[in-house]
Amino acid sequence: MAILVTGGAGYIGSHTCVEMLNAGLDIVVVDNFVNSSPESCDRVRRITGRDFPLEECDIRDEKKLSGIFDKYDIDSVIHFAGLKAVGESCVKPLEYYDNNINGTLVLLKVMRAHNVKTMVFSSSATVYGDKNTAPFNEEMETGKATNPYGTTKLFIEQILTDLAKADKEWSICLLRYFNPIGAHESGLIGEAPNGIPNNLMPYVAQVAVGKLKEVHVFGNDYPTPDGTGVRDYIHVVDLAKGHLAAIKRAKSVKGTEIFNLGTGKGVSVLDLINAFKKATGVDIPYTIEARRAGDVATSYADVSKANKILGWHAEKDVVDACRDSWHWQTQNPNGYNK
Ligand code: NAD
Ligand code: UFG
Repeated sequence: MAILVTGGAGYIGSHTCVEMLNAGLDIVVVDNFVNSSPESCDRVRRITGRDFPLEECDIRDEKKLSGIFDKYDIDSVIHFAGLKAVGESCVKPLEYYDNNINGTLVLLKVMRAHNVKTMVFSSSATVYGDKNTAPFNEEMETGKATNPYGTTKLFIEQILTDLAKADKEWSICLLRYFNPIGAHESGLIGEAPNGIPNNLMPYVAQVAVGKLKEVHVFGNDYPTPDGTGVRDYIHVVDLAKGHLAAIKRAKSVKGTEIFNLGTGKGVSVLDLINAFKKATGVDIPYTIEARRAGDVATSYADVSKANKILGWHAEKDVVDACRDSWHWQTQNPNGYNK
């Protein structure tokens, strides 16, 4: 029996594959490499010393995807495949709705046709919107997304919840990630954004290696201790381990369950810049700029549900994540394009 990992060549997917393989589980990876490279899967093989099938396939290609389900003995799916750039989703909403929502619908139809009814889905803290107050817990009403990307997460959560309500054989685990950062400690896999990074951590790492001049801090007039935005930065290896706990849980419990995956701690932009300096000794120049549209002041998780039910908690801190990002960035200044 194998777990199908959609988007398994990507940032979070590749780290999750390492944890699955290290735990002795079998996996099949499906990816169309729209935002990744098959090289990441070779690196995963190097880290774990284990082989696994990698199928190049767009999850919207029903026929091809169905053939993959025919070929392998798949019993569950971890579904990472999706487009994730907030800004780009505002410019290309149709592409985002098609890829993320249509992609998920095709995947679900193929799963149902093969009687595979267990899924762990990559959702996001963005579903809490801007009306809830941190720490966010899973009982809170979800908010209104500020961009099409966030809306796809809200819609997919709804689709999966409706499905598990209609057919009691489904087991769905919705994982709401906070801010994944860091890289595997080997320095072999990590985040490889195309072009100029949108997210804080890869931006800081590229300033540190001299690829970018300085960090632009988006606002220092938020109602936070130092005025800069506060987030819950979770090491990607901890996040990957959360998937191991979630897939075990989903295999034993029917219906829909939601879990926050975060550390439970808020860290400001300036805290993160300082942590990077502490971890690496490298000075990070920065300037204060205007707020970025759509940003909330403070976002961090209540992680008590994942602690209690999944028996999972984050073990690494932001200094660990900065050190590992730095290691990855210096070993692979051009990502997987050596
Ligand atoms: P990523 O872009 O590195 O990984 C996504 C992978 O999916 C890529 O390898 C891409 O090539 C693949 N993919 C996209 N569309 C596909 C399609 N139609 N068919 C097949 N493969 C396809 O992103 P990531 O950071 O690893 O994120 C993984 C998931 O977690 C995404 O669903 C993302 O929305 C979600 N998420 C990410 C964050 C974050 O900050 N990184 C936060 C919350 C949620
Ligand atoms: N920031 C800067 N300068 C930058 C980039 C970011 O000051 O160059 C600030 C932002 O204003 C924010 C914080 O750093 O206060 C974190 O910003 P990121 O872009 O790294 O992360 P976000 O919290 O905005 O969004 C991320 C993902 C979303 C996801 C969300 C919640 O990009 O896809 O986390 O999971 F929805």
